[in-house]
Amino acid sequence: MSEMIREILVAAAGEVEAAADERVLKEVEVKYLGKKGLVTGLMNRMRELTPAERPGFGKSVNEAKDTIQRQIDSRRNGLKAQVLMKEVADPFYDPTLPGLPEVEGSLHPLTVITQELEEIFRSMGFIIPDYPEAESEFFNFEALNIPSDHPARDMQDTFWLKDGNLLRTHTSPGQVRAMREFAPPFRAIFPGKVYRYEAVDASHEHTFHQVEGLMVDREVSVANLIHSMKVLLGRIFKRDVKIRLRPGYFPFVEPGFELDIECAVCGGKGCSVCKKSGWVELLPCGLVHPNVIRFGGLDPTEWHGWAFGLGLSRLVMMKYQVNDIRHLMGGDLRFLEQFR
Ligand code: PHE
Repeated sequence: MSEMIREILVAAAGEVEAAADERVLKEVEVKYLGKKGLVTGLMNRMRELTPAERPGFGKSVNEAKDTIQRQIDSRRNGLKAQVLMKEVADPFYDPTLPGLPEVEGSLHPLTVITQELEEIFRSMGFIIPDYPEAESEFFNFEALNIPSDHPARDMQDTFWLKDGNLLRTHTSPGQVRAMREFAPPFRAIFPGKVYRYEAVDASHEHTFHQVEGLMVDREVSVANLIHSMKVLLGRIFKRDVKIRLRPGYFPFVEPGFELDIECAVCGGKGCSVCKKSGWVELLPCGLVHPNVIRFGGLDPTEWHGWAFGLGLSRLVMMKYQVNDIRHLMGGDLRFLEQFR
C-alpha cells in the first residue's frame, strides 16, 4: 500500500510540473485530489487493511494529500507570475498609467427627497406604513367619499385592472387603511407612486410621486394644519418660500385647501411648469371629512384629522429646478448623473 502512495506522489509531482497553464493544473488537481480523485480513492481501500495498519495508512494518505496540494499551489503561483511577466514584457505595457476610475452611482432625486421627508416626519412622531399600488375601488374612491356617480372621479383618470381593481390614483387610500389598522391618536405619512391615465406633458406624467400625510386626534384644527404645513415647507426648502392658500375642493376633506408655492423654476415669472401662472399647486390639504373618518371605522364625533397630499414629483422639480416632469422617470443618465 505505501508503495502505491509513493507511486501516486511521483506521478502527481510530474504532472503538476508539466502543467503548462492554470486550466491544465486544475485538471491535475481534480484527478488526484477531487472527490473521485486517486488520493481520495486510497481512503476507500482502508477496509483491506488490518485494524492495526489503518491509523498509519490514514496518516500517510493525508500527508500525501498535503504534499500534492502544496505542489499545486506553488505551481499555480508560478504560472500566475509567468503570465504577469509576459504582460510586463509587452513594450506597450505602462505600469505608471492611472487605473480606471470606479463609476459610482447615486440616489435618484426622488429617493433623496423621500428619505429627507421621512426623516423630518419620523422626528415628529409619524409612522410610515406601506400600502398597495394596485388598490381596490373601495379604498381609492368609495371610502374617500367619492361614490361611483361622483363627478370627482373624472378628476382622476384611472388605469383600471382586468380584475376590477385599479392603480391607485393618489396616496389617499392610505388614510382609510391606516385608520382601520392603527388605534388613534396617530400620525402617518405615505410616500408612494401613483398613476393617472393622462396626456403627458412638461407638468403631467402618468406615473408620479406623492406623499400623503394624516394626523388623527381628538382635537385637530385648521390652524394646526396650516402651522404643520409651514413647518414642513420650511424644513424642506431651508429658505423662505412664498406660499398662497386657496380654498380647494376634494370630497375627502372639509374644508379643503390648495397650498401653492411660487414657482422655483422661473422664480414666479411664468414658465411651462407653472403654466405661466408663477404658482405651482404643491400641497392640497384639509380636515378629514367625517364620512372618511367613519369609513375608517372611527366615530367622527370623537376623532378628527387633517390630511395633505404633497406632490412629491413637483417638489423635486421645485427644489432642483427641473423644467420637465418627464425627466424624473425617463431614466436618462445624463439627467441622473447631475445629482451625484
Ligand atoms: N389625493 C388628492 C390628490 O391626489 C390630494 C389631497 C390629499 C387633497 C389629501 C387633500 C387632502 O389630488
